[in-house]
Amino acid sequence: MAEILRFYFDIRDITLFAGRHSTFTEETTMSNLLVIKSSLHNGSGQSSHLVDEFAQTWRRANPGGRVQCRDLATEIIPHLTAEIFEGFGKPADQRNPAQISATAVSDALIAELKSADAVAIGLPMYNFTIPSTFKAWMDYVARSGVTFEYTEEGPRGLVEDKPVYIFATRGGRYQGTSNDTQTRLIQTYFGFLGMTNLHFTYAEGLAMGEQIAQQARQSARAEVMRLAA
Ligand SMILES: Cc1cc2nc3c(=O)[nH]c(=O)nc-3n(C[C@H](O)[C@H](O)[C@H](O)COP(=O)(O)O)c2cc1C
Repeated sequence: MAEILRFYFDIRDITLFAGRHSTFTEETTMSNLLVIKSSLHNGSGQSSHLVDEFAQTWRRANPGGRVQCRDLATEIIPHLTAEIFEGFGKPADQRNPAQISATAVSDALIAELKSADAVAIGLPMYNFTIPSTFKAWMDYVARSGVTFEYTEEGPRGLVEDKPVYIFATRGGRYQGTSNDTQTRLIQTYFGFLGMTNLHFTYAEGLAMGEQIAQQARQSARAEVMRLAA
């Protein structure tokens, strides 16, 4: 019974998610910015503030542009399972209901990414790596034959290159050290899908006292303005 209920809720949540449209959008065909937030604090996270400021400045610089937002703290993507992964590789008419729902979520995330002209990501460091919610997004977006493929020469990304802005917030300081596990991972992942035009902004030392935190926020904001203008 518990298993059936869990299955029901999995399907219900995933279906709601797939059917949901962006949380703030403006109709236009001019230019399209995809904003992805991965703070567990939703909109009040420090990385969310930076990505919001970027989007506001970008909007002013791109009048009529469209901003599409995915908040991964409220729009939960379930962990990838063997069943879901197998479903990705099957013809549509051979997927079971769980695979149909999960593939619809994956398709929606990929469509958002492919149709964006630019991407902005709020990326906190949690326990020395990326938030697990963002890892789930990565797992649903990397799809063989859809966002990448293997050739005799090796892997080839199938997503058009576009600017990707990453706003990395951290309690400590890791930039340029071997403990910065995020930068390399993000570079490798997006590069694998075909996107190499990456711009990192770091707000570090946010747990190292108010003075250091304030300085970090100020310089990150200045960088946000410069990048989005
Ligand atoms: C669960 C959790 C784990 C964290 N782990 C780290 C860490 O490994 N290294 C670090 O520098 N800061 C760590 N922090 C601090 C966050 O990176 C920092 O507060 C950051 O501003 C969070 O961004 P957010 O406000 O957008 O969520 C952690 C915070 C939380 C809540």
